[in-house]
Amino acid sequence: MTFLEKLRCLLTFGQGVALPLTEISANSSPFELFKQWFADANKSGILLPEAMSVSSVDSNGQPSSRMVLLKSFDESGFVFYTNYDSRKNHDFGENNKIALLFHWNVLQRQIRIEGTVEKTTPQQSADYFHSRDRGSQIGAWASKQSNKLHHDNELKERFAKYEKKFGDGEIPLPDFWGGLRVDPQYIEFWQGRSSRLHDRLCFEKKGDQWQQFKLHP
Ligand SMILES: Cc1cc2nc3c(=O)[nH]c(=O)nc-3n(C[C@H](O)[C@H](O)[C@H](O)COP(=O)(O)O)c2cc1C
Repeated sequence: MTFLEKLRCLLTFGQGVALPLTEISANSSPFELFKQWFADANKSGILLPEAMSVSSVDSNGQPSSRMVLLKSFDESGFVFYTNYDSRKNHDFGENNKIALLFHWNVLQRQIRIEGTVEKTTPQQSADYFHSRDRGSQIGAWASKQSNKLHHDNELKERFAKYEKKFGDGEIPLPDFWGGLRVDPQYIEFWQGRSSRLHDRLCFEKKGDQWQQFKLHP
């Protein structure tokens, strides 16, 4: 991003000083609105606008959250990629309910998404896996995500092992790695406004239809 582009972003979005924050207008599709806000976040110069918090709940009812990167989204859901032997995915095996959270501070915006999660198809996982750089592909094989390290060099040694094993050949998709798609039932858009008169526009799925309402901030 050039200096001029950064300046334009700051004037457009910066802290709500240069321009008043717009009120959210009712929009019939939460996906359309998500698309607009995600595009704004990408233009804003925020580092990793696609970073989102993912919350899971384990079999004891203990919630936990961590950041991941949103890799794609459309009407069928929001997709990220991870290790299927990870803590989060063990939680989803017990309880497929999930919450996602985006916060774009310079835009004074937050999006909350709640729904259920399921694996992407192996084909979709493979397509994404092979689009990654080679180091990340080997890293996926090397990391026993969420498992205890036996010693400090373990990860390095495992990386070297798989680097040697795959040589210059194609690296196969590990069967323990792939995408998770979030099927949303609730999406809430929060826009910060002056005097704490923030706007909260909510979409709730009833059958095949999205119902809209606003909440007090
Ligand atoms: C900005 C950021 C992006 C991340 N993206 C991912 C991701 O896309 N997939 C992933 O599995 N872990 C990602 N991580 C690591 C996770 O936060 C987490 O440490 C890991 O998934 C293990 O979580 P778990 O033990 O709860 O399953 C990211 C971390 C940060 C800080």
